[in-house]
Amino acid sequence: MRAELATDVAVLKGKGVTPGLAVVLVGDNPASEVYVRMKVKACDDAGFYHESVRLRTATTETELLTLLDRLNADSRIHGILVQLPLPKQIDSTRVLQSVDPRKDVDGFHPVNVGRVSIGDPTGFRPATPYGVQQLLLRSGIETRGKHAVVVGRSNIVGRPMAALLLQDGPGGNATVTVCHSRTADIGEQTRRGDILIVAIGKPEFISGDMIKRGATVIDVGVNRVDDPSRKSGYRLVGDVNFEQATQVASAITPVPGGVGPMTITMLLYNTVQAARQWAPRSH
Ligand SMILES: NC(=O)c1ccc[n+]([C@@H]2O[C@H](COP(=O)([O-])OP(=O)(O)OC[C@H]3O[C@@H](n4cnc5c(N)ncnc54)[C@H](OP(=O)(O)O)[C@@H]3O)[C@@H](O)[C@H]2O)c1
Repeated sequence: MRAELATDVAVLKGKGVTPGLAVVLVGDNPASEVYVRMKVKACDDAGFYHESVRLRTATTETELLTLLDRLNADSRIHGILVQLPLPKQIDSTRVLQSVDPRKDVDGFHPVNVGRVSIGDPTGFRPATPYGVQQLLLRSGIETRGKHAVVVGRSNIVGRPMAALLLQDGPGGNATVTVCHSRTADIGEQTRRGDILIVAIGKPEFISGDMIKRGATVIDVGVNRVDDPSRKSGYRLVGDVNFEQATQVASAITPVPGGVGPMTITMLLYNTVQAARQWAPRSH
């Protein structure tokens, strides 16, 4: 997919448009810093113009909104990403609604949420569920007519994931069940999934006996657990018990190295999609 992207970028540059992404980070959350570094590196590798703006933890909402006004008006910037979570004095809903929907490459603006929800392909699809859908498509895993179970209903993963799986098209047409923290007997639901997608942020929550034999398991979770044997003192695990899952599943994504790199790739795709809006049309 990165190779395909390189071709798209070359075509755009030939038309005088270099895809441009602005990444805004407020505060010093260590996980956010890692994600922002990875995104900036991916922009460099892809030949994008990029700007990363780091603001102190005490930044006011007004300061952040003023910055977004500037980025919305900057013609070199086609995509704007505000790394979440934001410090508590800032209303993240208001911030996400202040990104121009044409530059909302994270797909969090209500206009894009609505477009994805009604199956309008011009809406930006949030990078993580979009990446999961591409992962399924490109691995030849049929979703049509299958029972997909999504665990987690957040606005950034679970809900848009369910919307994409429901769409009438490639990577869609599944029958979808969505589970959350109030779901009764979650194992009963997860065992019905031909495709099981887990995004809850609970280390190794899904055990082998919660998975249908032969299922495809997509583990979105990224959790730090203590590991004194590592120099860092921790290691990353998913929301699924990988060892147990491999005994029953026919396919599974690893953590790290599965959904994470796909998310970054789809962010680049969305930025190219955004940049195309400003490129002269070829005849
Ligand atoms: N790899 C990537 O690129 C990527 C991207 C985004 C997120 N992630 C990871 O994915 C995980 C989820 O992220 P998120 O932002 O979606 O999290 P979130 O906003 O905290 O949402 C978690 C969801 O899981 C549900 N949940 C929590 N505990 C549960 C339980 N015991 N049983 C059933 N459902 C439960 C919650 O239900 P309620 O709504 O009822 O509270 C909520 O809907 C995290 O580990 C995050 O780091 C990875």
